[in-house]
Amino acid sequence: MRIGVLTGGGDCPGLNAVIRGVVRKGVDAYGDQIVGFRDGWRGVLEGSFIDLDLEAIRGILPRGGTILGSSRTNPYKREDGPERVRATLADLNLAGLVAIGGDDTLGVANRLGADGVHVVGVPKTIDNDLGATDVTFGFDTALHVATEAIDRLHTTAESHNRILIVEVMGRNAGWIALHSGIAGGADVILIPEVPFDIDEVCRLISRRHARGRYFSIVVAAEGAIAKEGTMTVAETELDEFGHPRLGGIGVQLEHEIESRTGFETRATVLGYVQRGGTPTAFDRVLATRLGLAAIDAVHDGQWGMMTALHATKIELVPLAEAVAQSRSVPIEEYERYRVLLG
Ligand code: F6P
Repeated sequence: MRIGVLTGGGDCPGLNAVIRGVVRKGVDAYGDQIVGFRDGWRGVLEGSFIDLDLEAIRGILPRGGTILGSSRTNPYKREDGPERVRATLADLNLAGLVAIGGDDTLGVANRLGADGVHVVGVPKTIDNDLGATDVTFGFDTALHVATEAIDRLHTTAESHNRILIVEVMGRNAGWIALHSGIAGGADVILIPEVPFDIDEVCRLISRRHARGRYFSIVVAAEGAIAKEGTMTVAETELDEFGHPRLGGIGVQLEHEIESRTGFETRATVLGYVQRGGTPTAFDRVLATRLGLAAIDAVHDGQWGMMTALHATKIELVPLAEAVAQSRSVPIEEYERYRVLLG
């Protein structure tokens, strides 16, 4: 069988492990020929690809990023996009595609499926916000990076009696902020799901000072928002999927907290460091399992499905189910930890 593979959206540690799983099993177990499209849906639209033979995937398991490149290209925002996708598949004589991505890439895969294109999806995102799977690969790596950063900031915050703010990724979901904040013993954790009250943030910090702790760690997801009317947030440009370019809440908080409490406050933006570098062992194993399951799904004709982790098992779920709703942090999960803050 001839099959195409692509990686779309923000890159994520573990993408190469999925590609390797698909190619190793596709070539060795099924005798497939596999092509890898460059830069997500852009490569499919433009017919830009490389041959993924065993040589092409040698040594990629521990490597971060994606050997195929990635982009946020949306075929439904391009003229004749779906027709061009179908034409590329026909020209290259491909039976279908394995699309590795988050809600945007898999949302396109789901729409293309309804338009008659054969696609199997594999979920990825460091944000861990995709529905229908318990966890996405990349999240564990990002969590380790963020937790290590918090540990390091702790010692310098304590030495200088400062309030240190750590801005972590998480556009709509606060999984990285919540879990790294809990793992790192943060004093304030701000997530997109629960708009924060800046007075309450300052109250928690001041209470710590009154109790003799003269430093604090604040972890804020980049998508954290203040309760309406309490802080102004800057407007930003949108990408092809309509997402704003985030980043900046840390610096805004720095000014607000310092001016309201009088305590010296500094912000650190972790940014892309959370997405780069080698995946953890957990992410490598999960990504490998998803890749192996994806190539099996292709050969079972399970088009329109996505590989997913359910407890300890890899199962198939409809792509439509996975993209129907993103997985946010449940409010009660956040509330459970409130007693540890401040
Ligand atoms: O979706 C993953 C993510 O890392 C988000 O946390 C972040 O907002 C976004 O990607 C950044 O994307 P870009 O690579 O387009 O700047």
